[in-house]
Amino acid sequence: MNAMLQVEAEIDALAELFAAAGVRSFIEIGSKFGGSLARIAARLPAGSRIVSVDMPAGTVAWPQSEAELKAVIARLQLQGFDAHVIWGDSTAQAVIDKVQALGPFDAVFIDANHTLPFVEKDFANYGPMARLVAFHDIAWHRAPDWKEGKRIDVPVFWERVKGAHRHQEFKFCPTGKNNGIGVLWRD
Ligand SMILES: C[S@@+](CC[C@H](N)C(=O)[O-])C[C@H]1O[C@@H](n2cnc3c(N)ncnc32)[C@H](O)[C@@H]1O
Repeated sequence: MNAMLQVEAEIDALAELFAAAGVRSFIEIGSKFGGSLARIAARLPAGSRIVSVDMPAGTVAWPQSEAELKAVIARLQLQGFDAHVIWGDSTAQAVIDKVQALGPFDAVFIDANHTLPFVEKDFANYGPMARLVAFHDIAWHRAPDWKEGKRIDVPVFWERVKGAHRHQEFKFCPTGKNNGIGVLWRD
């Protein structure tokens, strides 16, 4: 299994869990090209509310990801979903207010800035809007030769919060050291 398929299998497992839990409204914080957004929406009933938050120029290949995310939202709308994209920094109050106005939600998937201050804020701001909260990259481990690159603090955060909640983990990378999705129930 290659790396891309592992990610897809984890996203599919999350989508399956959301569908089984009766999710009909979903926020994704960090959508990039819209890949996980479309894959999760495909498992939800038509008419479900789908809200994406992404930050203009928040990622590499921004022009392409902006265009592709817009196209994904337009396609979901044509398919009968109540789909929205909100552009901006997820930690900005104006963005939080726009999402809140569309809530409450059944589920949120947090996959934006992976450094600790942002993951903490995204959980604090969007977690209370949903009964299910999922995080990407709970299994990321720094390779021995890792010197620089984007920090991924989600594993530290996940280990800290998961014990207080009913939770489930999807870690399909054979090494157990990449990607990974954690889901917690807030009820
Ligand atoms: C890992 S990608 C998302 C991948 C997507 N969930 C998928 O699996 O198909 C992270 C995205 O988060 C966005 N992002 C980073 N920091 C952000 C912030 N503070 N607010 C909103 N979006 C942010 C980036 O622009 C990027 O598109």
